[in-house]
Amino acid sequence: MRIPLERHSSKAVYLQIRDRIRRLIETGALQTGDKLPSIRALAENTGVNKLTVIEAYNVLEADGLIAARPGSGYFVNPTIQPKSVSNFAPPQDVIVSEQPPPYPFEEAKSGAFFNHYMASLQARSSPGMIDLSSGFPSDSGLEDLPRIARRAVKQVSGSLFNYDNPQGQLMLRQQISRMLVQQHGMNVTPEDLIITNGSKQGLSLVVHYYVKPGDWVIVESPTWHGMLSLLYSMGARVIGIPMTAEGMNLELLEKNLYTYRPKLIFTVSTLHNPTGITTAQAHRQQLLQLAEHYDCVILEDNAYEGLNFEPVPAPIKALDRKDIATYVGTFSKTLMPGIRVGYLVVTGKHYQPLVERKLLDDLHVSTVSQAIVSEYLASGHYRHHLAHLQAQHRQSQTAMLSALHKYFPSSASWTVPNGGTFLWVQMPPVPMAEICQKALSHGVFVAEGSPFFPGQQGYPALRLNFTLSPKKIERGISVLGELVQAYLLS
Ligand SMILES: Cc1ncc(COP(=O)(O)O)c(C=O)c1O
Repeated sequence: MRIPLERHSSKAVYLQIRDRIRRLIETGALQTGDKLPSIRALAENTGVNKLTVIEAYNVLEADGLIAARPGSGYFVNPTIQPKSVSNFAPPQDVIVSEQPPPYPFEEAKSGAFFNHYMASLQARSSPGMIDLSSGFPSDSGLEDLPRIARRAVKQVSGSLFNYDNPQGQLMLRQQISRMLVQQHGMNVTPEDLIITNGSKQGLSLVVHYYVKPGDWVIVESPTWHGMLSLLYSMGARVIGIPMTAEGMNLELLEKNLYTYRPKLIFTVSTLHNPTGITTAQAHRQQLLQLAEHYDCVILEDNAYEGLNFEPVPAPIKALDRKDIATYVGTFSKTLMPGIRVGYLVVTGKHYQPLVERKLLDDLHVSTVSQAIVSEYLASGHYRHHLAHLQAQHRQSQTAMLSALHKYFPSSASWTVPNGGTFLWVQMPPVPMAEICQKALSHGVFVAEGSPFFPGQQGYPALRLNFTLSPKKIERGISVLGELVQAYLLS
């Protein structure tokens, strides 16, 4: 067992050992009945006095986590159930960002998102690179797709010589609305849907529709950097409301709604990018009430819809009776990003203007892409594919949590998301950009946290994609952990 210690930490060494072992038990990395290292072995291994280990074992025993068996040593207490817990408790600082962060090409303003997007494409094509950064879905379990795609193309071949509806094909809108009603408790019809080129286009249409240059927009802090770049590029001013372990801090949200009277709140309420947090029903209800009260629209991005391990509450849009929320979904994370099929749910008077904007943007989404998704949904494979992804991601998330416990310092804390593809690590004060650069030279590509904060401010953090094989995860996290430990010990 490796227990990395921070010699300069104000936390006593025996407490660092206790906390590390406690977390190994709580996350299941140490299972009920497992034997702990002997006092002498652990003392030698960690370079501490035997009395320090005895003290640590004593507190663990007093907490009921381990038990001594006379003559045999210490064992994980059989009454403890392994569980995954998050001790994520980030600072609660609101970030008010009137200007985009500095970027070499002033006129481009797409900043950190562009750089990260291009770097992640390059990482994907570099043989042997471990990509802990990107949000690409796994391609396994899609063996039937080529056959289904050929069938779909044959069916629509006649219509390829025509333009299509800007709002998308009726058949696909019917299928998606049925899915939203049955699986997400939403009250929508095909007439509320607009098919878009990925959810990115939907987000852009909505933001341009509601927000003018100089308007204030509220985002979660951290948030998806693609949205930050979009907002800055159009001259919006951004307020980042800190995330708690339960979602956006609603008390701070209300204060800032009152002070700034923003036009729009952008939220990823389920499997948030980058933290992976899913908000509870009560949080969604309260957020909606606040938005109604302060006359502010909500843009709810559910890009990771369907990748949850356990049931999640209905989206905010399902609670919306006054047409103030717009919902965005996509098939990029559950099928493939290259197909570029996403959708908007827009109810009431805002539907028609948004369809007209869609027409001005690009006429309509590729008929072939729409037909492939439609055929895939009709074939019944989609549900099975989601179940396959959920099982696979659950396994890989467990591997990542174990690796984090093994290699990361005890002063780091992370979220334990109910699905999706990412988790978020709050780091001790170390130079993350430098560490990520060094990791890259060891073949590990990783996204440091600053681009996800408005104005690139915020605490040191990492967004980690856990959808890789356990072997790659172990290697990637060990490289990162060792770089961080080396920095802390220097
Ligand atoms: C939160 C969020 N929204 C939207 C998108 C854009 O997805 P797409 O345009 O491929 O549907 C992403 C992609 O990473 C995302 O993470």
